Amino acid sequence: MPQRPVPQSKTTHTDTPNKALASAPAQADGASVTFTMTVNGRSETLSLDPRTTLLDALREHLHLTGTKKGCDHGQCGACTVHVNGRRVNSCLCFAAACDGDTITTIEGIGEVEALHPLQAAFVECDGYQCGYCTAGQLMSAVALLDEPIGPSDDDVREAMSGNLCRCGAYQNIVSAIQSVRANKSSAK
Ligand code: FES
Ligand code: FES
Repeated sequence: MPQRPVPQSKTTHTDTPNKALASAPAQADGASVTFTMTVNGRSETLSLDPRTTLLDALREHLHLTGTKKGCDHGQCGACTVHVNGRRVNSCLCFAAACDGDTITTIEGIGEVEALHPLQAAFVECDGYQCGYCTAGQLMSAVALLDEPIGPSDDDVREAMSGNLCRCGAYQNIVSAIQSVRANKSSAK
């Protein structure tokens, strides 16, 4: 079997807990490992090559294709999901290292009939064009609501700087996030 290149550890905007990279399980060719994660509230047990990334496990094995693969190298943020409530680049995490963890993907934050406030704000503010980056943008933005981010647009831009948008919808994305943050703080 050809050797899949192992992603290199790197610092990301998401403060990714790269335990996955640090503790990548040893692999004998042809072997698989069995592990269980809670994904969007459902317990999922998988037996996979230990080099399978969380991104590929979600997309290829659990068929949760809302999470997108852009660069596959931790550079674009399209693959952002939450692991135990923290945003991570799932292309940089080994799935087997998420044994016992709680994963939330874009499919887990809202329904068509009951959008998450940020999803509704993205629609309202025109926060996307082609939509390829949008799931990652939204997962970062949802996590950002609970992070100690400063109040200004520049603070939001900095916090979202790891999520790239080739369509350049950045200003509208910031507007969407700020509208939800404003509603959240006025509701306190
Ligand atoms: S696909 Fe993971 S950061 Fe680009
Ligand atoms: S909306 Fe097209 S890449 Fe962001």
